[in-house]
Amino acid sequence: MKKVLLIGGGAREHVLAETIKRSPQDVHLYVFAKTRNPGIMHLSEGYEVGDVMDMEAVKAYAERVRPNFAVIGPDDPIGAGLADELLKIGVESVAPFWKGAQLESSKSYTRNLLEKYGIPGNPKFGVFEDIAEAREYGNYLASLGIQLVVKADGLMGGKGVIVQGDHFDSIDEGIEFAEASIKKFGRVVIEEKLVGQEFSLMSFADGVHTVEMPVIQDHKRAFEGDTGPNTGGMGTYSDADHLLPFLTMEDVDQARAITRMVQEALQKENDEFFKGIMYGGFIAVRDGVRLIEYNARFGDPEAMNVLPLLQSDFVEICEAMIDRSLDQVAVMFEQKATVCKYVVPNGYPGSPVKGEKLTLPELPAGVRMYYASVDQQGDDLVLCGSRAIAFVGIGDTLEEAERLAESAASAVQGPVFYRKDIGTHALIQKRVDMMKEIRAA
Ligand code: AMP
Ligand code: GLY
Repeated sequence: MKKVLLIGGGAREHVLAETIKRSPQDVHLYVFAKTRNPGIMHLSEGYEVGDVMDMEAVKAYAERVRPNFAVIGPDDPIGAGLADELLKIGVESVAPFWKGAQLESSKSYTRNLLEKYGIPGNPKFGVFEDIAEAREYGNYLASLGIQLVVKADGLMGGKGVIVQGDHFDSIDEGIEFAEASIKKFGRVVIEEKLVGQEFSLMSFADGVHTVEMPVIQDHKRAFEGDTGPNTGGMGTYSDADHLLPFLTMEDVDQARAITRMVQEALQKENDEFFKGIMYGGFIAVRDGVRLIEYNARFGDPEAMNVLPLLQSDFVEICEAMIDRSLDQVAVMFEQKATVCKYVVPNGYPGSPVKGEKLTLPELPAGVRMYYASVDQQGDDLVLCGSRAIAFVGIGDTLEEAERLAESAASAVQGPVFYRKDIGTHALIQKRVDMMKEIRAA
C-alpha cells in the first residue's frame, strides 16, 4: 500500500484526489486543507483541516501520516517553500522547491531568466526599483505606440497585473500601480502589451524531461463576451485532438520548446531540479508565440480538463517526476473534448455572497462535478465566496462537451451565476477569426 499526502482543498485538488485514487495501485489518500471539501473527504482515508501556509502544522500532519510523497496543489504554499520544508522531514513533493517556484512567484525572475539564457518568448520589458526609471520606460514604450502591462513582482492572488486598455487608460494610472508594487515588493515589471489569443500548456516536469498535456484555453473575465473584472478563471475547454481551433501545430511546438529551455535554464541557475508542473501561459501573436507567465502548479480550472482524460497511472507519473525518470513512463490522454464551467457566487469576484446554501443537480452521464470554495455544514453545502462548483463535460466533440457542462451548470440552484458562452461554437469562432485577422495583417 502507498500513502499520498495532498495539500489543498479546492476543485483542482478534488480532481487531483480523484486521479490519485484512480491509480491501479493500492493508494491511501491523506489530505490537509482549509475547508471540508465533500468531494475530497469522500475519497480520502484521512483529512486534516488547517492553514496550508502554516508550515509547522502541515509538517506535523505529514509526520503522522509518513506518506510516500506529497502533492501540493496551490501556488501560495509552493511559493513559500513547503516542498523544502517537507523534505526536511524526508518527504518528497510533486512541486518545486522555493528557488524554482520563483518561476511563478516572481514575474521579474522569469523575464530575467529567459533573457539571461537567450530563450525566445519575452515581450519588450523592463524591471524597475526606481519609479522615475519606470515612468521613463513607460513613456518610451508609449512613444513606440505600444500599450503597457504593469506587473507587481509577487503573488497577489490574481490581482497583480494591470493591462492598458483593459484595466487602465493613462500612463499615470499605470505608474501609480507600479509605485505601489515597488513599495510592496521592491520591484515592478513593465512590459509590452501583447495582442493575440492566450492558451495554457501544462507539462509534467522532472528537472530533465518534460511531458506535455493537451492544450487548454481559459476565460479570465467574469462575464459573457469576455467583459467584467478578471477572475481566477470562469471556465476552460480543450479539444479532442489536444490542440485548439485557433492554434497551429507550430505554435504548440514553439511553446513546448520554450518550456524545455526554461527547465534547462532553471537547473543551471539554481543547481537544483524543477519537479512538478510547469504551466505556461502563452499567447499566440501575429508572428508566433510569446510567454505571458509561468505557474509552478496545475491550473485551476485547467487540471479538470486534462486529468480526467489521463489514461496512465498518475501515481507512477508523480514518482517519475520525483525520480527524474519521466522518460520511462508512458503518459497517455484520451482523445476527447472537454468543457469546464465554474458556477460562482453572485457578486464574485468583487463582493461575493457567502454563507448561502447551494443545491446541486443530478449529474447527467458524461459530466464530472468538482467542489471548490464550498463547505459541508451538516446536510448543507454552503458558499464560501470564491468559485464554488465546476462542471466538466467530456465528449467526442466540443459541441457535445459544451452541451453536457451547460446542462449541469444551468441546473444548480442558489445565488450563483456562470458563463453560458464558454466552449460554445460562437465564442470559439470569434477567436479563430481574430487570429486569422491578426496573422493576415
Ligand atoms: P496573471 O495574473 O499573471 O495571470 O496575468 C493576468 C492576465 O494579464 C493574463 O492572463 C493576460 O490576460 C494579461 N497579461 C499579462 N501580461 C500580458 C502582456 N504582456 N500582454 C497582454 N496581456 C497580458
Ligand atoms: N486558470 C488560471 C490559473 O490557474 O492560474
